[in-house]
Amino acid sequence: MFRKHRLAFLDQMQSGDIALFPGAGHVTRNHDVEFPFRQNSDFAYLTNFHEPNAFLLLAKDLPDIPEETLFVLPKDPLKETWTGRRTGPEGAVEKFGMASAENLDVLEEKLKAAMASAGRMWFRLGAFPKTEALVVRFVDDLRMKIRMGIEPPQVFLDPGTALHEQRLFKSEEELTCMRKAASVSAEAHLLAMAQTKPGMKEYEIDALLSFTFRRHGGQGAGWSYPSIVAGGDHANILHYTQNDAVLNDGDLLLIDAGAELHGYAADITRTFPVNGTYTSAQKDVYEVVLSAMDASIQRCRAGVPFHDIHQAALRVLCEGLHQLKICKESPDEILEKETYRRWFMHNTSHWIGRDVHDAGRYMVNGESRPLEPGMCLTVEPGLYFPAADDTIPSAFRGIGIRIEDDIHITGGEAEVLTAATVKTVADVEEACASERLAPPTLDTELLTS
Ligand code: GLY
Ligand code: MN
Ligand code: MN
Repeated sequence: MFRKHRLAFLDQMQSGDIALFPGAGHVTRNHDVEFPFRQNSDFAYLTNFHEPNAFLLLAKDLPDIPEETLFVLPKDPLKETWTGRRTGPEGAVEKFGMASAENLDVLEEKLKAAMASAGRMWFRLGAFPKTEALVVRFVDDLRMKIRMGIEPPQVFLDPGTALHEQRLFKSEEELTCMRKAASVSAEAHLLAMAQTKPGMKEYEIDALLSFTFRRHGGQGAGWSYPSIVAGGDHANILHYTQNDAVLNDGDLLLIDAGAELHGYAADITRTFPVNGTYTSAQKDVYEVVLSAMDASIQRCRAGVPFHDIHQAALRVLCEGLHQLKICKESPDEILEKETYRRWFMHNTSHWIGRDVHDAGRYMVNGESRPLEPGMCLTVEPGLYFPAADDTIPSAFRGIGIRIEDDIHITGGEAEVLTAATVKTVADVEEACASERLAPPTLDTELLTS
């Protein structure tokens, strides 16, 4: 599928163009310790190559310059003994199906030659300062050679614009990866529901999630973003990741967590009772959020503007805020005056794919873009009532609920990629009461080239 991704990008280039894509390097964590390596998402989408300090150079119809060249760290038995095996240029051609590959140490020479031949160059300004400095230096050098008939590219284009549009539409192979990420994440959430008991710590559940992601092949730390394991009032902190408090009897537990598998993310939120049974106030709020979610998913159809998904959730949430007597205003007033923002302050959806908040535009020609088959997005309404909010009935204080699924837009009804993670009150209570243990390794094997 990666060669297909490169060919699709080459299709968007004009004759005489080159495109340079830098991969990620190592990032220092402290002193001489590095964070686990994670490849740049654009680079991984084009190459499936997961070693640091690599570059991809594409060239369209330029004599003497291959259509695609992967520059990689050279083989070096001594260094490989310390830091791990390297594929090397020969391996890059053999194993990664690259038309050509070179040692990294000839990048500067080859890049400068390519820039001297190209009329236009695709390079993402602002994203890769070191490489950008090199590109700017070569532009300046090549300008000095104008008397010899040599000049740098006259036009620079942002590859993100074209590539991210490409990434927004998932192929069947990409959807297979997303379904696997969703199934591993479902397993983690169901296990968390079964294993959570009053008195446990948030980090015990965090560890259970990470354990599940990793043991089924989740990359890096296993997750696509740090897990949010938020007991009680912590659910009212949207990006809570401290995950170190005791889980109290009678409280809810909000878990927002998803695996990263084969380079693709899942993003799932469920909110369930620590002791396995919702109180009536918790259930009332939960049912409102779940209805908002159902209304949004109903709108997840080709042709519907992206923004309508949010509007569908808002309408139900505003009705709920009125019915629960959280807010005296009428549902219409709550919506028009945006009073709801106090208790629902984020958007309902974002694209999802290689990045949990995936690439792609939300607006086209100043308007919310219509959904199309192949797009994937989340639906994640919520209501957040902080313990300190004394303007609302006391029964609701300290309740924070979000429910989140990942959706694939098809030609008909939406596919809920995360449907295996139960979400009705009855199903969640049943999952909490189950004796579920970690299952044998799930079938997450995937062969891609
Ligand atoms: N987990 C991040 C989000 O829901 O957008
Ligand atoms: Mn999300
Ligand atoms: Mn989430």
